[in-house]
Amino acid sequence: MTELPITQRASQIQPFHVMRLLARARELEAMGRDIVHMEVGEPDFKTPQPIINAGLAAVKTGNIHYTAATGLTALKQKIAEHYQHTYRVSVNPEQIVITPGSSGALLLSLACLVEPGKNVLLADPGYPCNRNFSYFLDGDVKAIPVDASTHYQLSAELIAAHWDENTVAVILASPSNPTGTLINSAQLQSMVAVVDKFNGVIVMDEIYHGLVYQQQPRSILEYTDNAFVINSFSKYYGMTGWRVGWGVVPENYITVIDNFAQNIFLAAPTPAQYAALAAFDAETKIILEQRRQAFEQRRDYLLPEIKMLGFNVSAEPQGAFYIYADCKKITMNSETFVEQLLEQAGVAITPGVDFGTNKANQHVRFAYTTTLERLAEGVKRIKGFIANS
Ligand SMILES: Cc1ncc(COP(=O)(O)O)c(C=O)c1O
Repeated sequence: MTELPITQRASQIQPFHVMRLLARARELEAMGRDIVHMEVGEPDFKTPQPIINAGLAAVKTGNIHYTAATGLTALKQKIAEHYQHTYRVSVNPEQIVITPGSSGALLLSLACLVEPGKNVLLADPGYPCNRNFSYFLDGDVKAIPVDASTHYQLSAELIAAHWDENTVAVILASPSNPTGTLINSAQLQSMVAVVDKFNGVIVMDEIYHGLVYQQQPRSILEYTDNAFVINSFSKYYGMTGWRVGWGVVPENYITVIDNFAQNIFLAAPTPAQYAALAAFDAETKIILEQRRQAFEQRRDYLLPEIKMLGFNVSAEPQGAFYIYADCKKITMNSETFVEQLLEQAGVAITPGVDFGTNKANQHVRFAYTTTLERLAEGVKRIKGFIANS
């Protein structure tokens, strides 16, 4: 075969193992097998009807042209109101950029910060795309191992210990994927202080904020204006496939973010932006709140069940829809365990390797993005699988 040119960065971006797993699960389903899906990182619920209606109406009335690169003004205003209501924080709508999913906001934000020779700090385990965004921008990553002692989050102390002269930013997520743990308000404040001291920037992923149980999460914007906030209509609002998210960027970056957005995406999908206008309606809120409670019930069911199976969860998840569990009592090779569990028992979960290298072989992630009945079926099958292996 002729050798065609390909960049070095192509070899740096690792595949998402869970996607391979999902493909195999679909293959098995096509062969007639019944698979319990506990690997999927998206809500099983359909998009709330008021949002669907608003999207359909936009298409029917011909609202299908490009919007401004940073998004519909009306949507930015609603998002700004959301910050005022939820966190008592004033955000200038001009600081908001609507993007294709929060992935778009992550890329644009990191494009303002990362370049060759520079690095970002992030937690291991953590959301895998973050490090790949940095590699994509020819920057480097310092993945810091975290454990239950810091609730699987970075801390001000860890940031101070790992920051070097080439570090430009730290990426945080609260609640985290894969652990579902939060960063509390005292820690957020200490982190802001330490990052300020280094003249750096926090990139704060708040995509799971709607899905927090028994407490109100704090936005980083309550403590600083010098942070990029990443959020999305994907998870809490049930709009994964519509591809619409947002970023809130510090005032100094408004123009550069606009320039990047104009060139890289032109704009987020227009019907999806019109649909998202209904995401903050009172009737939508009622539906979303019921779903949040359903997720909480699922967590409360699944957590003790997997512990009884021998998995250890050393920091209890307070949000999102994930449980990150230590499986060392059962296996020290989570990748093989996950593959065999799928093939032999028809249950799909995600191996730790998708979230970094820190004790990845002794961890798995359960997503409770399926009904209580299916979760119970999954638990039953895992129990049988462990008993027979
Ligand atoms: C922590 C985190 N951030 C960002 C994303 C990206 O989501 P989207 O681009 O759909 O908003 C995900 C998706 O799984 C995630 O888990």
